[in-house]
Amino acid sequence: MKKILITGGAGFIGSHVVRRFVNKYPEYQVFNLDALTYAGNLENIKDIEDKSNYTFVKGDIVDDNFVNELFKQYDFDGVLHLAAESHVDRSIEDPLAFVKTNVIGTMNLLNAAKNQWKENFEKKRFYHISTDEVYGSLGTKGLFTEDTPYNPNSPYSASKASSDHFVRAYGETYGLPYVLTNCSNNYGSYHFPEKLIPLFINNIINNKQLPVYGDGNYTRDWLFVEDHAIAIDLVFHEGKNHETYNIGGFNEWKNIDLVRLLCEIMDQKLGREKGTSQNLITYVKDRPGHDLRYAIDASKINVDLGWKPSVTFEEGLEKTINWYLNNEEWLKNVTSGAYKDYYQKQYS
Ligand code: NAD
Ligand code: DAU
Repeated sequence: MKKILITGGAGFIGSHVVRRFVNKYPEYQVFNLDALTYAGNLENIKDIEDKSNYTFVKGDIVDDNFVNELFKQYDFDGVLHLAAESHVDRSIEDPLAFVKTNVIGTMNLLNAAKNQWKENFEKKRFYHISTDEVYGSLGTKGLFTEDTPYNPNSPYSASKASSDHFVRAYGETYGLPYVLTNCSNNYGSYHFPEKLIPLFINNIINNKQLPVYGDGNYTRDWLFVEDHAIAIDLVFHEGKNHETYNIGGFNEWKNIDLVRLLCEIMDQKLGREKGTSQNLITYVKDRPGHDLRYAIDASKINVDLGWKPSVTFEEGLEKTINWYLNNEEWLKNVTSGAYKDYYQKQYS
């Protein structure tokens, strides 16, 4: 039985990856290592918690002793590393937390894997899941390719860029077998309502203002999270060692257009008069260092591995909105307590 470590599996993307691996690969023993920060939630993976090929481990990747001991205890065959501090606005408030988890935490995993595997790297794989934000901002034209130079602008993207560099350095210096992917904005179920789409869905449900940063003319490339999990599965199994793949949705939206679309769909679903939710749109102070546009050229993963998004944005958004409307209890639970303080601080 192969032993696979997935970090951050109680978070948004990680929970979809854990679910896919546990259900699709009964021959793998899947270990989900997560510190259960504000973004980690065992409710996200409740449906698989009793499966015999699944083990949850609560722990912090910043703790090097703990990480080393875990690798010694289980001698993992592969690692999929998703644990991270992931929200740009929080990185502006507390950059050091991002250095700790995203840089030191990644280093600890790299060291543990290198030390555990050094006798024989064959059939081992360290998969680092990263973001398109490492490339910085595009102007109105062009796409990020795997050769675009790194140019991060936020503490979050700088910490992710740093972790990517360390992964490559461990590959070059020690021969650690790695693959790396840089993905665009994900959306879907179990997305924490601090990020644009789930935040605005929750606010529309509760008739709260929709805080659009700046003039709203910022562009993101949106990918359905289950399509990201499919791509991650493919890269883990079929990606070439020491290669990077960009993953994206071929699906660019200006924030304000996306918000208007969300308002329209939500009005229909909630039986509200057309235009009701648009009245909630409020332009607020811009995010400092706000990147104008991200857009991915995903042709390498398409040509080399045959991946492309399986759902259209219309289908993905419909599924996502239905999920939130059918899971208001989940929304209520994650927006009680500390969330209220965060919201007050960020948007007051
Ligand atoms: P998330 O914030 O929803 O989840 C992160 C998870 O990591 C949580 O379960 C949290 O408890 C855990 N975690 C945080 N610090 C930890 C620590 N020190 N030790 C152990 N666990 C810890 O994040 P996400 O949106 O699911 O993103 C997952 C990964 O994908 C991240 O590496 C992120 O950079 C990358 N990514 C995200 C997106 C996106 O649109 N969300 C796009 C591209 C890449
Ligand atoms: O591109 C991939 C990245 O996408 C991931 O690496 C990050 O982990 C993920 O959080 C996401 O980063 P963004 O900063 O693009 O996502 P966010 O949902 O925070 O914001 C999307 C856009 O919406 C961005 O232009 C900022 C804007 N925005 C966001 C919030 C939370 C608003 O206008 N108002 C808001 O309240």
